Amino acid sequence: MQVTLRQLSLLLCLLSCASTNGARYTPDWASLDSRPLPEWYDEVKFGIFVHWGVFSVPAFGSEWFWWNWKGAHSIKYILFMIKNYPPGFSYTDFAPDFHAQFFDPDEWADIFEASGAKYVVLTSKHHEGFTNWGSPNSWNWNSVDNGPHRDLVGDLGKAIRKRSLHYGLYNSLYEWFNPIYLSDKQAGFKTQDYVAKKVLPELTNLVNRYKPDLIWSDGDWEAPDTYWNSTEFLAWLYNDSPVKDVVVTNDRWGAGCYCKHGGYYNCADKFTPGQLPNHKWEKCQSVDTLSWGYRRDMKLSELMDLPRIIKDLVYTVALGGNYLLNVGPTADGVIAPVFEERLRGIGAWLKINGEAIYATKPWRVQAENATVLVWYTSKNTSTVYAIITSNPMQNSFKLSMPKTSSSTVVTLLGNPEPLKWTPLQSTGLTVQLPELPFTPAQAWTLKLDGVA
Ligand SMILES: *[C@@H]1O[C@H](CO)[C@@H](O)[C@H](O)[C@H]1NC(C)=O
Ligand SMILES: *[C@@H]1O[C@H](CO)[C@@H](O)[C@H](O)[C@H]1NC(C)=O
Ligand SMILES: *[C@@H]1O[C@H](CO)[C@@H](O)[C@H](O)[C@H]1NC(C)=O
Repeated sequence: MQVTLRQLSLLLCLLSCASTNGARYTPDWASLDSRPLPEWYDEVKFGIFVHWGVFSVPAFGSEWFWWNWKGAHSIKYILFMIKNYPPGFSYTDFAPDFHAQFFDPDEWADIFEASGAKYVVLTSKHHEGFTNWGSPNSWNWNSVDNGPHRDLVGDLGKAIRKRSLHYGLYNSLYEWFNPIYLSDKQAGFKTQDYVAKKVLPELTNLVNRYKPDLIWSDGDWEAPDTYWNSTEFLAWLYNDSPVKDVVVTNDRWGAGCYCKHGGYYNCADKFTPGQLPNHKWEKCQSVDTLSWGYRRDMKLSELMDLPRIIKDLVYTVALGGNYLLNVGPTADGVIAPVFEERLRGIGAWLKINGEAIYATKPWRVQAENATVLVWYTSKNTSTVYAIITSNPMQNSFKLSMPKTSSSTVVTLLGNPEPLKWTPLQSTGLTVQLPELPFTPAQAWTLKLDGVA
C-alpha cells in the first residue's frame, strides 16, 4: 500500500510538477517556450494596466511626450513647451512636480477590485527610464529620491495584494535617452554595458523585492534578445527566482520575439486577431484611445464608452485572450472619475455576467451572427454561454450553433427563471427572451446547460 501511494505520488509529480519543480529550463527559446503558463493567468481573464510616470506631469499628447519633443522633434510638442515653460526647461525638470500627493493605494485598489479585474499591471519604469521604486541603478531618476519621494511600486503592491488580486509589473528594456544605452546602440549592440549595469540588475531587483506575478516586458524592439540576454534572465526567473512557479511573462523580449516567444503573447499593442489564436494571448487596450498615460487634453469622444469596452472584453475572452484595460492616473495620484466610472461599470456587469467570463474556455464556435452578433464561451463540456452585445429587440431569438437535447436548460444570467425554448429543425434553438433588463453595458448572457 505504501509503495503504491509513493509510486502514485511520483507518477503525479511526473505529470504535474516536472516542468515547474523538477526540470530546469535552459537559456534558449525551445526550452523556455515549453514552460506551461501558470494556470491562474488564463482563469482571471481581466486585468487593469496603469501607466504612471513623469510623463503624467506634462500630461499632454501621450506618455511618449519626451520622445515626441526631443526625439521626433514634433512641432506640436515644441510649441507646447515654448508656450508654457521657460527657456532651458528640460524633461527632467518635470520630475519634482510628479507629487502624487493624493495617491491613496487603497482607494486605487478598491476601484480596481470593484471593476472585477483580477490582476493589475503597473509601469515600474517606462521608456523615460524613471523608476517608480527606489532602484539603486537609477540615481535620482526614481520616485523615492525625486518626485513623490515614495515607493510607488511597493505601496500599490501592498494594497493590491490585500485584496487578493495578482500584481504585475511593466518594465521597459530600453530607455530613449540613457547615455549608456545610446552608446551600446552606437556600437551596433555589440557591447552590453547598459544591459549589465542597468537592465539585468534592475529586473533582478524588481523581482526579488516585489515578487511580481507577471512581468510585462516592453521596449525591446531595437535590439535582438541576445543583446538583452532575455533567455538568460528568463531561465533564472523560471528556475531560481522567488516567483519561479507563479510568474507569467509576455513576449516582448527582443526584436522579432513578439507573437513567437516568451509566455503569453501580446503581439502588437491592441492586438485584435480575426480568429482563435493557438497560443494564450492578451489584448491591451486603453480607455483613452489616444494615450496610455494621462492627458489633460483628452476629449470625451476619444474615450471608450462602457458598451464598447464590454464588447472588446467579450470578444477577447471568446477568442481565448485576457483583456488588460489601461487607465493613466494624474501626476497628483488621482484616477479620473471618468475612468473610475468605466471601471465600476465593468464590475457591475461582471457581477451578473462574470460566470460567462472568468475561468471559461473558448467554445468550438467563437461567434455567430444571430439577429445580432453573439459571442460564445464555455465552462465544461456541456455549459455554453451566448453573450449578446446589443439588444436584438425581439422575443424569439434564434441561435443556430448549439446542439440541444431534451435536458437542455436555458437561463438569462441575473434572471432566476429558466427560459422557454424550442429546437430548430436541424441544429440550434429558438429562445423566448424576456424583456431584457436595462444595463448601461448593453450586453446580456444566455447560459445554455446541457448543449453540445
Ligand atoms: C549574457 O549572456 C552571455 C551568455 O551566457 C554572457 O556571456 C554575458 O556575459 C551576458 N551578458 C550580461 C550583460 O550579463
Ligand atoms: C457577421 O456578419 C458580419 C457582417 O456581415 C461579418 O463581417 C462577420 O464576419 C460575421 N461574423 C460571423 C461570426 O459570422
Ligand atoms: C458546468 O459548469 C456550469 C457552471 O459552472 C455548471 O452550472 C454546470 O452544472 C456544469 N456542468 C457539468 C456537467 O459539470
